[in-house]
Amino acid sequence: MSLLEIKDINRWFGSGESRVQVLKDINLSIEKGDFVAIIGQSGSGKSTLMNIIGCLDVPSSGSYKIDGVETAAMSGDEQAALRRKSFGFIFQRYNLLSSLTARENVALPAVYAGMDLAQRNKRADELLNQLGLAGKENNKPSELSGGQQQRVSIARALMNGGEIILADEPTGALDTASGHNVMEILHGLHDAGHTIVMVTHDPNIAANANRVIEIRDGRIIADHSKNTDIKPSHIVSIKEKNSWHFYRDQFFESFKMSVQAIMAHKMRSFLTMLGIIIGIASVVSVVALGRGSQQKILENINAIGTNTISIYPGKGYGDRRSSRIKTLTVADAESLKEQNYIDSVTPGAGIKGILTYDNQSLSAQLYGVGDQYFDVRGIKLTYGRLFNEDDVRQNSQIVVIDDNTKIKLFADGSNPIGQVILFNKRPLQIIGVAQPNNTAFGDNDTLQIYTPYTTLMNRISGSKYITSVTVKIKDNVNSQTAEKGIIELLKARHGTEDFFTRNSDTIKQTIESTTGTMTLLISCIALISLVVGGIGVMNIMLVSVTERVKEIGIRMAIGARQHNILEQFLIEAVLICLIGGLVGVLFSFAISLLFNLLAQDFAMSFSTISIVMAVLCSTVIGVVFGFMPAKRASQLNPIDALSRE
Ligand SMILES: Nc1ncnc2c1ncn2[C@@H]1O[C@H](COP(=O)(O)OP(=O)(O)OP(=O)(O)O)[C@@H](O)[C@H]1O
Ligand SMILES: [Mg+2]
Repeated sequence: MSLLEIKDINRWFGSGESRVQVLKDINLSIEKGDFVAIIGQSGSGKSTLMNIIGCLDVPSSGSYKIDGVETAAMSGDEQAALRRKSFGFIFQRYNLLSSLTARENVALPAVYAGMDLAQRNKRADELLNQLGLAGKENNKPSELSGGQQQRVSIARALMNGGEIILADEPTGALDTASGHNVMEILHGLHDAGHTIVMVTHDPNIAANANRVIEIRDGRIIADHSKNTDIKPSHIVSIKEKNSWHFYRDQFFESFKMSVQAIMAHKMRSFLTMLGIIIGIASVVSVVALGRGSQQKILENINAIGTNTISIYPGKGYGDRRSSRIKTLTVADAESLKEQNYIDSVTPGAGIKGILTYDNQSLSAQLYGVGDQYFDVRGIKLTYGRLFNEDDVRQNSQIVVIDDNTKIKLFADGSNPIGQVILFNKRPLQIIGVAQPNNTAFGDNDTLQIYTPYTTLMNRISGSKYITSVTVKIKDNVNSQTAEKGIIELLKARHGTEDFFTRNSDTIKQTIESTTGTMTLLISCIALISLVVGGIGVMNIMLVSVTERVKEIGIRMAIGARQHNILEQFLIEAVLICLIGGLVGVLFSFAISLLFNLLAQDFAMSFSTISIVMAVLCSTVIGVVFGFMPAKRASQLNPIDALSRE
């Protein structure tokens, strides 16, 4: 059985009227260890035949068997394996990858075969040394002469064993001396047992071969052998491993290629990333802004006291009759205090009036409140003391002032505790200073002072009614249930529902949901920019694929599988998006630094989830939008890709 067996092969291009038949009924067998030259004029079909022999192209009809196995029945990856393990290509124009060094070019077939880095570099250096290229290992192809480049490509052909060397016009682009040198090398390889098939149009070069096949207009017209007694070949191709190392190496190589491709077009890569950067930065910043403002508002609500329910007379805020409804009483507050779900209760009443001290008169708001008021509202004492149950019972003429009032009245820094102030001409002794109640719901501009509600009602205003009751719910009680209980109780006491309640928990939920909705809305808009960025990435990847068709062809010729090519372009797309995503996140950190510097109201608050999601999102964009171009690259026909300039 012959090594290569070609039976009745035809190859035509195009169809119908424009169909050109390049190979016509070719029958040819090549034995192991032979040195065959295919000779013929330009356009006679030599390269076409050679490409079919090398599994870079498929015949239009006929059968081609390698070692007895029909090639038409092989999958793309099986043919790639043949190109990788059995064949070694030498091209007229060398076809080295310009971005790789001589060593990397030589070692590339072994990358796809899964050889370790150290092992393949060692072998590449040995081969380069044998071919007289010691010291040129780190030169790029552009830093080598034509003859040197051709020797690098011979070394590459031998990297995985190169049992069958396929050389298409190996001396075509070389001067006579370099051509001789290449022919000597081929002779050496033949002597070492390699099977050699060489295409040439030069009879002198063909004379080197053992067998010369002449081809004209796609037909074999002559076939001479000098020596029919061929010594058997004993070349073994390297064993392929399918270990974890293999996949790691392949991934690492694809990764390196991708980085090189990105670095080769820095500006273009950056502009592509810009879409992703802006998209990710806006998503992350918007989420951080939303969270920051939400936290600030919730902090304010918490300052009012957690889980409080306030009861006011009337039907709602702004009810004009509410000032005339005088049904809310201290007794209501007392009965609420007895409910087991209520932690503390404070009645509230307030009047505006004139505060006089030491020749100063200021307008102020006097709140008449219970002893638990400060606890319910979450107001903290700066110094002094708060009033207690006894003070409430005894209508004590005492007052707690807020910091603002203290600053106004005691500008000289003297101690206010024990001093007596007049409110609407009634004397009140200061017992404590509290933090101002400057929540979003407090009245920040007015001076606020607090006295027991009994004092306010009995000694100052004379009114029997209170304007609010605020209760603090026990921690383990559901605030909705508590609110219902309060409403039932007061309805029973008053006979009608002439009051309304405000639940801090409801306010909290409302704020959380509105800011959440806002964040979601703006994030959606930012997402659109992400999609636009993704389309940009796809565009650039398509350009990148088109630009590198030749490179893809070379990789396929030396045995890259489809998934190797797919992987390489996919990694490139993901890398662009991932770098864009990370830069976007950093960019939004920069925005937050600036924001926190300028805006004192609240700080942007980053959530790990939104950052992880953003980076994940950019990766997904890379995969989704990179897949199409990458798939396209991997499905290129090797010979079409190779012939592209
Ligand atoms: N993809 C293709 N589509 C159409 N025609 C093609 C294609 N490839 C090759 N041909 C035609 O097939 C014929 C043989 O081409 P081939 O490259 O095999 O010639 P060759 O013998 O190698 O010539 P040269 O010595 O110039 O390299 C040419 O006439 C060419 O125009
Ligand atoms: Mg040719």
